[in-house]
Amino acid sequence: MNNKKEILKFPKNFLWGTSTSAYQIEGGITNDWSEWEKKRVESKKFLSSGKIADDFLCGKACDSYNRYSEDLALVKELGCGAFRLGIEWARIEPREDEYDQKEIEHYKKVLIEAREKGIQTVVTLWHWTNPLWLRDKGGWTNPEAIKHFSRYTLKIVEELGQYIDYWITLNEPLVHVLNGYLINKFPPQKKCPREAIKVFNNLYKAHNEAYKIIHKIFPYTNVSITHLVNYYEPARKWNPIEFFMAKAMHYLANDRFLKKIKNYLDFIGVDYYFHDRIVCYPPFRKNLNIETNDMGWEIYPRGIYHVLLKLNKYSLPIIVMENGIPDRRDKKRQWFIPAHLKYVHKAIEKGVNVKGYFYWSLLDNFEWAAGFDPKFGLYEVDRKTFERKARPSARMYSKICKNNQIEI
Ligand code: FCB
Repeated sequence: MNNKKEILKFPKNFLWGTSTSAYQIEGGITNDWSEWEKKRVESKKFLSSGKIADDFLCGKACDSYNRYSEDLALVKELGCGAFRLGIEWARIEPREDEYDQKEIEHYKKVLIEAREKGIQTVVTLWHWTNPLWLRDKGGWTNPEAIKHFSRYTLKIVEELGQYIDYWITLNEPLVHVLNGYLINKFPPQKKCPREAIKVFNNLYKAHNEAYKIIHKIFPYTNVSITHLVNYYEPARKWNPIEFFMAKAMHYLANDRFLKKIKNYLDFIGVDYYFHDRIVCYPPFRKNLNIETNDMGWEIYPRGIYHVLLKLNKYSLPIIVMENGIPDRRDKKRQWFIPAHLKYVHKAIEKGVNVKGYFYWSLLDNFEWAAGFDPKFGLYEVDRKTFERKARPSARMYSKICKNNQIEI
């Protein structure tokens, strides 16, 4: 048996990081999601299915609003050079065109502390959540949302821009379109293709405007979105219908939005979680699911390679901004991370300009409609005391970040 370890080195200055979002970790936020969660748990149907309300209310989340120093210390302990965090629009602009200076100062403290610790900052401006006043105006179905988002962006640029290294204007816009406006999963729980198209259009226009606003003041900074890119392949390569369907899915889910914003990107932020083997009969997907995670999602590391190769045509640097696994017992994570990184490395060898990798997520957090159950964290978080505790895979990831290499 050959037990020799293979060492794969990453390029010099490769950016290692972890990702989080404001709503999922900060706690104490009132926005369209918090109000939706309340209504949801109050509904008889929801609770009669044996669910516990507290598990589906974001509430104090990980209390990162108060414990950000502790979180930044964890990022440092991991040896990550960068940290992705979010700014919550509803905190900054609780009422239309009224800004809360205290909250701006709060984020300033966080960003300055990150800098002082030698951590580069990747800041998401919008991660699916809207202030209530925007929700009441129809959210992103309203074309005015573009103007509102531009104004909010300008405020952040002026107040905090000097402390931000990488900008993510929007997180996974198509997930908001799909889950919020087509399949009834996320607020505002609509099933309306007409509205979905409006939201799609307003989101890409908002990104393009925000890009210009940021670049006007910081011409050399890095701006992108985080885009969920799935790997679609025909289950049977010889089947022309499946071949065509996989191509169509790739176009609709991966390419279409990017094409609309391609002139307003300094890099592409990629989130990779899913692979779909497309079949030509319902339910049109037949994955082999040889390995799955706690949420039942297939684990398919090779897919990240194909995704990166496909994105190469945009001739832009790429940063993997999210890749992670819900794995409560930390049984698969130590395999999952290097398994994906092996394929990231392979893509780099093939000439794809991948500049960094961010694990999702630093902490166990509030996983949207799935509540607190999924455990994506390198660090466990005690739901009562908020104590953070490193999982073994945190030590493993730290070794990768510090040595800039993986051992296979
Ligand atoms: C991504 C989201 C992120 C988190 C992970 C698991 O789609 O951007 O907030 O929920 O999935």
